[in-house]
Amino acid sequence: MTHVDVRVYEVGPRDGLQNESQPIPTDTKLRFIGLLADAGLREIEATSFVSPGAIPQLADADELMAGLERRPAVRYPVLIPNQRGLERAVNANVDAICVFTAASETFTQHNIGMSIAESLAAFEPVVAHARREGWWIRGYLSTAFGCPYEGPISERAVTDVAERLLTLGVDELSVSDTIGVAGPADVRRVMEALTQAGIGADRLAMHFHDTRGTAVANVATAIGLGIRCFDASTGGTGGCPYAPGAAGNLATEDLVYLLDREGLRHGVDLNGVLAAARFIAEALGRPLASKVGQAGGWPA
Ligand code: COA
Ligand code: ZN
Repeated sequence: MTHVDVRVYEVGPRDGLQNESQPIPTDTKLRFIGLLADAGLREIEATSFVSPGAIPQLADADELMAGLERRPAVRYPVLIPNQRGLERAVNANVDAICVFTAASETFTQHNIGMSIAESLAAFEPVVAHARREGWWIRGYLSTAFGCPYEGPISERAVTDVAERLLTLGVDELSVSDTIGVAGPADVRRVMEALTQAGIGADRLAMHFHDTRGTAVANVATAIGLGIRCFDASTGGTGGCPYAPGAAGNLATEDLVYLLDREGLRHGVDLNGVLAAARFIAEALGRPLASKVGQAGGWPA
């Protein structure tokens, strides 16, 4: 990877599309992923090897990975919940994976039918396998700022699960505001707790949903606290069927615009992202909802 100040981690094909109810052809997803790579995105979360019953939209994961033209400079992580997911990932020849649990017991139960402890036990052999293979491994820590079932989440719950995921051997932890409730003070509060637990910003990414319009403010705050990787979804799509009330992810075009205005290097071309955003909005038959998607970049 050429030098960047901030990594833009694209989750559009996975988090962005997983909650769409109308079927999206695999070929459309592949063209979307191609446009994202054209835009300079170097980490594109492609799909999930989860139960097709749990996430019908990503039931084509095997077919998608088989059809994906992988570019050498791009990493295409996939989500894996269990041993079955690992087997599918091995068949698909992946080299980057994500495991996912949450700071909330109730959310974890709804999302993957396990307790937090059970989920960590399920990931242990998955992460061990991935490490032997030299794969890159990310851990998602969902509902770190709030839970759709339990409400506010304590910092202690966040640091506890964060430590356990890092002990398993993940390379990076994505601290996620799954339902989009955090504001900058929450980002400072959670970061302070993680720092006190000895977890440095260099091992963390942040994942914001823009449900209440605070995502860009949260990113600006997190940059000030040393975070150098942010998740975003081109076109601002996104949500989780097990997180009622969650709206779209922070739009990649809104993130890239902010980083450009901050003079931070990220290697992504805003016009390229906008082209991919228009493509997916059209494929979904919806107007592009993101701020920068509507207004365009500036200067033109
Ligand atoms: N890939 C494909 N199929 C899978 C699978 C996987 N990784 N894991 C389980 N299955 C299948 C089983 O084969 C079984 O199929 P069958 O009914 O035809 O026999 C069925 O799913 C149920 O399996 P079970 O082991 O009982 O799992 P479960 O029903 O308790 O579900 C998870 C557990 C983790 C598989 C499921 O909740 C899941 O995939 N969740 C993902 C949710 C998600 O992606 N959320 C968004 C990201 S935050
Ligand atoms: Zn998300």
